[in-house]
Amino acid sequence: MTNPIDLRSDTVTRPSPAMRQAIMEAVVGDDAIDVDPTVEQLEQLAAELLGKEKAIFMPSGTMTNQVALRLHCGPGDEFLCEAECHILNYEQGAYAQLSGLVPRPVPGDNGVIELEQLHGMVRPDNENFPRTRLVCLENTHNRGGGRVQPFDKLVDICSWAHDHGLQTHLDGARLFNAVAATGIQAEEWSQHFDTISICFSKGLGAPVGSALVGSEELIREARRHRKLFGGGMRQAGVIAAGALYALQNNRQRMSDDHQHAQLIADAVRQVEGLRLVADEAETNMVIFEVSAQLATAVEFVGALAQNGVQMLATGPDRVRAVTHLDVATEHVEQAAKVIAETAQNLADGSQLPTKNGVQY
Ligand SMILES: Cc1ncc(COP(=O)(O)O)c(C=O)c1O
Repeated sequence: MTNPIDLRSDTVTRPSPAMRQAIMEAVVGDDAIDVDPTVEQLEQLAAELLGKEKAIFMPSGTMTNQVALRLHCGPGDEFLCEAECHILNYEQGAYAQLSGLVPRPVPGDNGVIELEQLHGMVRPDNENFPRTRLVCLENTHNRGGGRVQPFDKLVDICSWAHDHGLQTHLDGARLFNAVAATGIQAEEWSQHFDTISICFSKGLGAPVGSALVGSEELIREARRHRKLFGGGMRQAGVIAAGALYALQNNRQRMSDDHQHAQLIADAVRQVEGLRLVADEAETNMVIFEVSAQLATAVEFVGALAQNGVQMLATGPDRVRAVTHLDVATEHVEQAAKVIAETAQNLADGSQLPTKNGVQY
């Protein structure tokens, strides 16, 4: 049987031979004692691309986000965020478990909130209230179907936050997708935030790693929190080399992934019983609803998998497909065909709905 076409996430990519070569040749030190040269090179490039003083390498986007929250807030402090963001939905409530923080979510439109929704959200200085400290945004937005934050809205929200004495953090796990989609450079997005988290293991295609980027002072403090969370690493150059290779070589090609997502979105548009959640696939994700008459999302995903295409159910009736550097145009065209055939099979009863154990 041929390999399934894996559209579950952009995290599933395997290192290319050239990336493996870079990993093999990595010069390493001990990053927890003082310096690992490859980690240092990666951190310098990340800081440079985002126009900030410093960056710090960590194993995951969850850790960079959680270290950022802890940097900006103390126990009992509150942060404002959009209700579907990763920090709130997919990090096990780590802000509460690890740092004693309180989130104040604001409902968005596929991940995008309006400045007016934040008006009045900064609590007065009063011993009854938590202290409002931080605004977090996510770009591109995962549960928003890869939506790019409208630049002007983002600028307005960040400048409002700073005017109200709040800090700003960007979960930029897919910031370079936003760059590829808009032509707005990483440092233009980044200048509005005190800290930015970027991931190397998503659209950039590295096996492991994220960086938190910000001022020298903040990143010095972040190093303490990274240690506390168990993220101090030794010969980390071995993994940083893959991330460095990805950052140097894989940014330019991300628009291919975006074109591929358009092909999937077009296929979904044409199928009765499927509906795109966001009208356009702006970057590398497509989220669609499956009508109850056809199947549940888990059943639809199970049927797709039987036909050689993997996606994820991200809600009772929602399915997500993500394009990435391990799927070529021919795979995407095949996936588009399989979407239509699977829906047809389920509608005419020639394929019975099955669950393949995938849950959201
Ligand atoms: C928007 C966003 N932020 C953060 C993360 C967390 O990254 P990690 O899986 O490396 O912890 C993810 C992971 O999918 C994500 O999509």
